[in-house]
This record gives sequence, structure tokens and C-alpha cells, in this order.
Amino acid sequence: MLASPFPLRPRDVFEELRRTVVGQDDALRQIAVAVVKHLMGHPAPNLLLIGNSGSGKTTLMRAVEQFLSSRLDLERFANVIRINANVLAEERQGYGKVVLGRLFENAGRLVPGATVAKRIASVERGIVFIDEVDKIRGRVSDTANVRGIVAQEALLTLMENENVEFEVDGQLYGVNSSGILFAAAGAFEELYDDVLRRATIGADVVALKPVVVVSSTGEVREELPFHLRDYVRYDDLFRYGMTPQFVSRFESIVVLNDLVEADLARIFVEPERSIFRTSREYFAQFGVDLQITRGALVAIAWDAARQNRLGARALREGFRRVIGELEFDPAGGAELTDSPRVVMIDEAMVRRAIAGREQGSPRGK
Ligand SMILES: Nc1ncnc2c1ncn2[C@@H]1O[C@H](COP(=O)(O)OP(=O)(O)OP(=O)(O)O)[C@@H](O)[C@H]1O
Ligand SMILES: [Mg+2]
Repeated sequence: MLASPFPLRPRDVFEELRRTVVGQDDALRQIAVAVVKHLMGHPAPNLLLIGNSGSGKTTLMRAVEQFLSSRLDLERFANVIRINANVLAEERQGYGKVVLGRLFENAGRLVPGATVAKRIASVERGIVFIDEVDKIRGRVSDTANVRGIVAQEALLTLMENENVEFEVDGQLYGVNSSGILFAAAGAFEELYDDVLRRATIGADVVALKPVVVVSSTGEVREELPFHLRDYVRYDDLFRYGMTPQFVSRFESIVVLNDLVEADLARIFVEPERSIFRTSREYFAQFGVDLQITRGALVAIAWDAARQNRLGARALREGFRRVIGELEFDPAGGAELTDSPRVVMIDEAMVRRAIAGREQGSPRGK
């Protein structure tokens, strides 16, 4: 007889995450499969997410955490925590104890009144997200970075050990940490240039032919069709300062996309907590129905796309300039009424705000 099907399919997780995370479908698919396998008790690969600043790594991890904690039917086995890698360098009590401590605490919150044995069992099936993992390099330039080494070793202890001692109320317990799922994320700033250099002038040269790209505003530029995901190897990460034992425990390396103009436009309006929705809520409090024209949206996304190294964060800065004055005086001096007044953000307003930045005038002017 067939067992009843598992209550969650990778596709369900994917669809849910897509409501918050834009333009990273490939990464979402991989995370979805890993999480579902893990929840089923199936072996699942640890994941290392690499993506430029502002491409959605923290957003993605937060989305998985929120989704799993919102599914009450999963709460017994979805013990998820998210920590900053830097915290692991503070390990005074011993390697890995911070992670185990957080999972143990979380287990108590998920199932109040659970016995210590039950909570330990939940720890052993935990999901641990480690953000900013690139900050725990073991070497920076040619100098050893002790905090980084300590933090990597702390994690390694958990990732490779079947028995880590863990103390609860003065009593020692053995925790088998080999079943915990780890997903770490980092921007690995110089990695892109390092790998590009290796691929274009280093030992394994590949011929990259420039392609001409035309943006929606008519801007023409040449780009090299180089995608980090096609070339990155474990030894690039070793050279970056991650120890081989540590990175090789991440069986799957997932490179996030750089967000393009169309993604940025969607990020600006679509997700539940998007910049535009949040702003509309603010204006609604003053009886104003804030709207935006297609042209204005394209201009905001175009402006954000040309800011280097900011990713979607550039949207926020750009929009501040557009909306600053209106936020100060939402109803334009009019009395608050029951029928909402429509305020439209148009392309000319956005262009003026962008020009203001270029002339160095303060934000919002
Ligand atoms: N792919 C995305 N989908 C939706 N929103 C995004 C995406 N990428 C970035 N954002 C938005 O941009 C902001 C910054 O994103 P996030 O913190 O996830 O970046 P990050 O990749 O973690 O960057 P860093 O390496 O600097 O930590 C968030 O407020 C988020 O709303
Ligand atoms: Mg982040």
C-alpha cells in the first residue's frame, strides 16, 4: 500500500517563495527541493548561495524561514534558525554551541512543553541559515583572520560530526548534528573578478565574445557573456579564504542572478512588502491614493539598474528622491476627506529626481 503523500511539494515551496523573491527562480527551485527532502528525512545537500549585494540572499532566507514557520502542520519538524556568520566567531562556550542553543530554544517555542529528548530530536533535524558567510574568511589578503578561522571551524564541527556534546541545565546530551541542513549565503565581493580573470587571462582561458545589449531606454552597451555560475569552482572559494574542509561540505553551490531592469521594476511593486505598496499604505493614511505610471516605474528601475553594486537597494534610494517632498505633505495642504485623492507619480517626476542627484542636490528635492 502506498503511504499518504508528503504534505508539501517542492513546487508549493517554490510558488510561495516567488511571492517575495523576484528573478531568482533557479535558486528558489534548488532551495525548495533541498528543504522538502530535508523535511521528509531524506538526505539533502547543504547549499552555498553566492550573489551580489542586494540580489536577494537575505530576503530569500527570510522568506523560507517565514514560510516554514507559518505552516502549522510542519511546525513539529521545521525547526529553522537564521544567524549571522560573525556570531560564530564569538563562540566562547565551545564549537557549534551557539547554533545548537538557538535550535534548542526554537524547538521549545515550536512545541511548548516538549521534553528535552523531543527538543534534542528537533535540533537534530534543524535547518540553519548562515548569512554573510563571506565575512568569515580564514585569510584576508595574505593575513590570517583568526575570527574567520574560529567561525569556520565551529560550523565544520557541526557539519561533520555525529556526536556533539550539548549541555542543558547542567546535564550533557549527545547531539547527532549530521542531519542538520545548512544553507549559507554571501556576496563574496571579489570572487566575480577573480574568476573572470582566471577564465580570461589565467590558466583556463575561454574565448568570451562581447554581445551588444540594448536597454528599454535605448541605451546601447557591450557586455561579456560571463556568468559566474558557469565557471566558479571550489578552488576559487579556497583562494578567497574559505577552508577546503568547510566549503566542500556544501554539496551545492547556487549562484544568484544579477537583477536586471525588469526584475527591479517587479521588485519595486509586486512583493507583499514592496517599496511601492508600503508607500501606498503610508499615503492611504492621509486619504491619498498613490499611483504610478508605467513610464515612471520603468525610469525608477532603469535608474536603479545602472547603480553599481547596490542591487535592489538602489530602488529605495532612488524612490526617496522622488517621494521625499510628497511624504512631508501627502495631501498637499488639502483637508482629509473620505474620498481618496489620487496622486500620480509620473515619469517627469522621476526624471527630475534623477537629474537632481546628478547635479548633487540633496535627496528628495
Ligand atoms: N530578488 C529579490 N526579490 C525581491 N526583493 C529583493 C530581491 N533582491 C533584493 N531585494 C530587496 O532589496 C533589499 C536588499 O536585499 P537583500 O537584503 O536580500 O540583499 P542581499 O543579497 O542579502 O545583499 P547583501 O549581500 O548586501 O547582504 C531587500 O529589502 C529586498 O526587499
Ligand atoms: Mg544580505
